[in-house]
This record gives sequence, structure tokens and C-alpha cells, in this order.
Amino acid sequence: MSVSLHEIASKGQIDTFENPGPLARGLPAFAYTNDDFFQLEQDKLFPNSWMCVAYAHDIPKAGDAKPVEVAGRPVVLVRNETGEIGAFQNVCRHRCMKLVDEPKNVGRLLKCPYHAWSYDLKGQLRAAPHFGGIDNQKPDGFNFEDYGLVPVPCGTWGHWVFVNLNGNAGPLSDHVAPLESRIEGIDLDDLKLVGVLDFGEVDTNWKFLMENFIEPYHVPVVHKGTTDQPLQDHYVVMDGKCLGSAVDIDRDGAEGRAGTLNVSSRYLTLFPNFILGRYFPDQLGAYVNLPTASGKTRQYRAIYKTDGVEASEKEADELMKLWWDVHKEDHEMCERMHQGRAATIASEGGVLSPQWETSVRSFQELVFQAVQ
Ligand code: FES
Ligand SMILES: [Fe+2]
Repeated sequence: MSVSLHEIASKGQIDTFENPGPLARGLPAFAYTNDDFFQLEQDKLFPNSWMCVAYAHDIPKAGDAKPVEVAGRPVVLVRNETGEIGAFQNVCRHRCMKLVDEPKNVGRLLKCPYHAWSYDLKGQLRAAPHFGGIDNQKPDGFNFEDYGLVPVPCGTWGHWVFVNLNGNAGPLSDHVAPLESRIEGIDLDDLKLVGVLDFGEVDTNWKFLMENFIEPYHVPVVHKGTTDQPLQDHYVVMDGKCLGSAVDIDRDGAEGRAGTLNVSSRYLTLFPNFILGRYFPDQLGAYVNLPTASGKTRQYRAIYKTDGVEASEKEADELMKLWWDVHKEDHEMCERMHQGRAATIASEGGVLSPQWETSVRSFQELVFQAVQ
């Protein structure tokens, strides 16, 4: 069980997130680096949220199963015979052994490797060999119906799989609505996957990766090799849990330089951990960010084309390279932001631009509220 925000604060760190003057401050350093604070997020923030945890293409066929860790809890995603993706607590109901330890196709049954209890793809217990003695699967008082896998609320929007551990985050369709309204014109059933970049574990707190996407302020500085779009063309997006930034380019009617960042774009996050990037005319990027420790985040980016046309091999290679390089630029900044939290002055949280980082402040307020 996590300690409270107040207990963390009583160890000498501030527990207020009030602004000291007309300018907004950022979250105090401990919100990024303190393991107790991360545990608070694991206990209070992530379980009460719709967390994006995988791509639907990770488990394309019936019987495909993928283990994921959500807020430190083992979950397994399974595609069933009718094509739906379900999620379960990834433990056997016999003695709570972790059931699936790597992505695989399990066929028609999820079979525990310890004593061979087996569950169908909808989680029903189908076999408990010799549990009541030789050839007796059903001793008195033991009903298969009571020992199915425990479902975890799960939903798929587009190509993206979300789970809500506590089941109290409301309908997924409501959650994604503010993001959905900003990708109008894109047929999510007709996305063409170009490829997935697996960045492994980035040495930074998950919030820095989100905040980096939410503000446009850094773009002309950090990405000057891939864009010459002036800062003044950018703006922030704030709509509840959909926070981000955008740039509209209309140079003599042109849509910018394809194959670079010099195009009209939407950089949109959905609190807490999902990100969509829309790049006109025909590209979408979808990120799965999985916090694994206070200073480590697993990140993937899937690249899609939205015009219904498969990318050629050359085009795919170029896009993968472009986005790999752009993200390495961002990761370096996020890792250095994390390193900067060790300075004593960082406990005050720095200061946020009233023009370009109001969206960052909104994100941080959602974090602060979630852990209260
Ligand atoms: S722990 Fe799974 S069958 Fe025993
Ligand atoms: Fe960036």
C-alpha cells in the first residue's frame, strides 16, 4: 500500500501545487523521481484510468495471448474465437501462478504450466485435472463456474487496446471522444500499419514523455533538423483529458514538406498514457507508454498511413528512420529533464510558459488530482 501524498510531503517535500505568483509552476521534482509517489500513481492514478496497453495487431488471431503489466499488476490480453479482445488478471485460479509469461498463441485453451488447470478463451475454467483425487476434477464444494479467470475491463478503440483495472473510468467511448473529434476524416478501420518502433525502456519518468508531446515550445529548438516551422504557427489543445498541441501550415495552399515534420500536425495525448500524432495529409502515429518505474518508461510507436494505401518498402524505411531520429531527440531531452530533478531548486517545479505550456499545467493538475 502506498503512503499518502501528505506523508511524502512530510519527508521535507512540498505538498502543495499552488502557483506562487502570476506564473504557473510545474510539478515538484518528487512527483517524477520519488518511488513512493510512483507507488501512489500505481495505486490511485493508473487503476482508475483507461490505460492504453497494447496494439490490436499484437494479437491478431484467435488464441493469441499477450501478457502486460498495468500499474504493476499482471494482466493477459486474449483474442477469442469471435474476434474480440478480452483481458484477465494473468493468474491461475488454483494457486495464483502467473499464467502467460510471453506473447504466444495458446490455441483454444490457456493452460497453467503448474498443475494443468485450463481455461477457454473467454476465461471459463474447463479442466482441473485430478484436483479432487485421481480422475476427480470436481470435489465437493468446487464448481468450475466459480474459478474462471477474473476479467479486467477492456476495450478496443481503433487499433488500440485499453484496460481500466478498477472498472470505474466510465465508458471507453466517452473517454476517447475528445480525441476522436480531432481525427475526423480518418477511417480507423482502414489504417495501414507501416511499422512499429520499439524504443525499449527510456530512462525518464512517464510524465516527461507525455509533457514533451503536450507542448509545442520545444519543437523549433529540438527538431530544427526536421522542421523550420516557426513557433508562432503552433498552438495548444486543451479539452478535458485530451491535451496537446498543433500546428497549421498553409503556405500558399501547400500542405508543407511531406516526409518531414513540416506538415500540419496534431500532437494529442489522452490522459494518462496514450498519444496520437496526426500528420497531414496521410499519417498517424500511436504511442503506447508503459511506466515501469519512477525513472523508466517503456515506449512504442506505431506508424500508420490513413489514405488506405500500403506504404512501399522505401517509404516505410524512410518513415521509420525519420521517426526514430525525431524520438531520439525527444528522449534525450526527457532523460535530461529527469536528471535535472536531482537539483534542489527542482523541488519548486520550474516555471511554465503562459502561452505554450498551459496544456502541460493541465496535465500536471490531472496527475495531482488523481493521487490526492
Ligand atoms: S497454480 Fe495453476 S494449476 Fe496449479
Ligand atoms: Fe519533440
